[in-house]
Amino acid sequence: MSNAAHPTPVDRPRSKGGPAPALTHLGGATATRARELIALYPEPRSALIPLCHLAQEQEGWLSPEIMADIAALLDLTPAEVLGTASFYDMLHTEPVGSHLVSVCTNIACLLNGAMELLEHAESTLGVNAGGTTADGAVTLEEAECLAGCDGAPCVQVNHRYVGAQTAESFDQLIADLRSGARAAEIPTHGTLNRVARTTGLQADRDQIANERAAMAEAQAQRAAAAKDTAANKAGA
Ligand code: FES
Repeated sequence: MSNAAHPTPVDRPRSKGGPAPALTHLGGATATRARELIALYPEPRSALIPLCHLAQEQEGWLSPEIMADIAALLDLTPAEVLGTASFYDMLHTEPVGSHLVSVCTNIACLLNGAMELLEHAESTLGVNAGGTTADGAVTLEEAECLAGCDGAPCVQVNHRYVGAQTAESFDQLIADLRSGARAAEIPTHGTLNRVARTTGLQADRDQIANERAAMAEAQAQRAAAAKDTAANKAGA
């Protein structure tokens, strides 16, 4: 991917203890799902990465405005969101095409024709690795090992394995992506199933509330004990 400087997140003050923040760029359904995800965690900030994946589905990347919305939801600063988003390869802080095509050129794939495949991809798509086609359909990237070494040369589209590719099958893959023939299998911008699913990853809200209360009480007790210890030392 490009190494261009990351955009500066929109500044927004923390809103601890205030009313639910007004979101300017996260859509209604996405914002609702985001709040459901946050409720699964004892600490809201623990939902940061799932929220980044969820929000990324909206436009394919995490714009400064969307990062500001995530920050508001989690009571973080936009810089804290950027700090995490810019660390992980699967999160994009710059625009990408609707299909991110990743070609692994690590050792197993290299030995099985990955560089030739990447050169073919660059030639047929008309972009260098890291670039996006003029129609916005495809961003091509050269990837490190994608943990699919038994299917070398390994290719992923929107983080989904599409199997080892030849030049011919790659061209067909691109044609299918552009026509929408594989849309059900490979959603545009590709949300992770773990984040998108509505069953399985659920939690009892009362149980979470009780655990949060217990954590707060334990923290208060530790703080009081530390204060006593400091007072005793000062008086000794
Ligand atoms: S070396 Fe290409 S997937 Fe592992």
